[in-house]
Amino acid sequence: MNKPLDHVFVIFGASGDLTKRKLMPAIYSLYVQNLLPDKFALLGTSRSKFNDEEFRTKMKKSLVEFKEIDDLSKADEFLKKIFYLQLDSEDSSTYLNLSNKLNSLRADNDIGGNTIYYLSTPPNLYPIIPKNLAANNLNKEDDGWKRLIIEKPFGYDFDSAEKLKNGLLLDWTEEQIFRIDHYLGKETVQNLLVTRFSNGIFEPLWNRNFIHHVEITSAESIGVEERGGYYDSSGALRDMVQNHLLQIVGLVAMEPPSSLDSSSIRNEILKVFQSFRPIKSEDVNHVAIRGQYLESKIKGEQVNGYRKENGVDPNSTTETYAAIKFYIDNWRWGGIPFYIRTGKRLPTRVSEIVIHFNPTPHFLFNKDGSTNPCNQLVLRIQPDEGILLKFGMKIPGAGFDVQNVNMDFHYSDLSSQRIPSAYERLLYDSMRGDSTLFARSEEVMAAWKFLMPVIDAWENDKTIPLYGYPSGTWGPENADDLIEGESMTWRYPCKNLADDGIYCEL
Ligand code: BG6
Repeated sequence: MNKPLDHVFVIFGASGDLTKRKLMPAIYSLYVQNLLPDKFALLGTSRSKFNDEEFRTKMKKSLVEFKEIDDLSKADEFLKKIFYLQLDSEDSSTYLNLSNKLNSLRADNDIGGNTIYYLSTPPNLYPIIPKNLAANNLNKEDDGWKRLIIEKPFGYDFDSAEKLKNGLLLDWTEEQIFRIDHYLGKETVQNLLVTRFSNGIFEPLWNRNFIHHVEITSAESIGVEERGGYYDSSGALRDMVQNHLLQIVGLVAMEPPSSLDSSSIRNEILKVFQSFRPIKSEDVNHVAIRGQYLESKIKGEQVNGYRKENGVDPNSTTETYAAIKFYIDNWRWGGIPFYIRTGKRLPTRVSEIVIHFNPTPHFLFNKDGSTNPCNQLVLRIQPDEGILLKFGMKIPGAGFDVQNVNMDFHYSDLSSQRIPSAYERLLYDSMRGDSTLFARSEEVMAAWKFLMPVIDAWENDKTIPLYGYPSGTWGPENADDLIEGESMTWRYPCKNLADDGIYCEL
């Protein structure tokens, strides 16, 4: 693999959680694999006061605690590339210090002007930091490229996202901005492209003629933990659907790109987003279900309901569960329902896509009236990453009784291959300037536009129920009614790819 060009990597919000849990372990892992440039410096900045040595000690702890790879033998060598600058990122006048520090790092380490700025900060700083960088000419590319990496959320709704976008584009070009959606960095999400477009057998069936419906789930067993304050102003729709789940829909539903370059792939994803059938406000109640977790006992342990979590308004109406049915109005998918659901405090952590194929037109077997099992292809994103195909087989013995059986592949069978973390992949790509796995502004805007009727209705129409669901269950039962088709329900996935059902091991 190619090494990125020499550069300085600046992290705003370097004393925060994301830096220690995700960024530092991912960058160290790149270092150990010899995937960082030969000349590289990492500059952490935040309001907290540290000197270089104190910051290195803090980062060393996080490498141990949140390690991506077992080999920590190179940690000390790696830490020598890390520096720190105390900075009030809201105060434009302090950017002169940043500029001076960058110049001295470049001179000391013989690095040119290439620079990445990573905004690992609260979203209220997204318009401010890039503006301050630009006001101090730190966005200028005369001496090398300058890139800006922004974490989600990109705005709070369509209008705020547009304002953020327009503000950024005053000083930065679209090519300079890398919007992280960490789901796109997951190996199994990228494998969707490979499954679809490197195999001759799936693509001919991948359309309205053979598929009955598509189901996408991203469930979490944890609650909001320490993020109650942020989450209460966000909710499941903004936190998971607007970004991660719609990006997955894009990859499942897109047309084959003409090549693997970034704009071909992102153009096809955008076309999917532009083909979403608009949801009418009067239909929201029938096509979208929201829920909020209630207190309950999980494996003998009492857990709080959402409204009792730290930082959450005791009368909050924020949804911790969202399920939506929608259509993609194009030639491939016309009339085929897509279902997506996500929630916190569900029975297990699992993300997967289930392609439900049409039943056979005439069912010869099981004459006793039992229904015809449909073939399902399950693409498991996490955990027990892999692919499962379910199909009917004759039960040995007299008669023709049919049973659904599994054919499954697990990534763990490729035991020699470590699955890199999403951040490792995305940071490496941003360093190489490959924006394929980053969300483009048109996609972000199209995703907001699609969801706005639901967001507005949930906010303003008090007749739309917010269902309570006991923690540790699969969310509101009403979500089952979304699924069209006789005796069809969501798949209730278990920890193991091959199992499903409400009584399996979680
Ligand atoms: C984040 C959300 O983007 O994704 C979190 O803000 C959520 O609320 C997380 O927990 C889930 O990511 P993963 O990789 O654990 O599925």
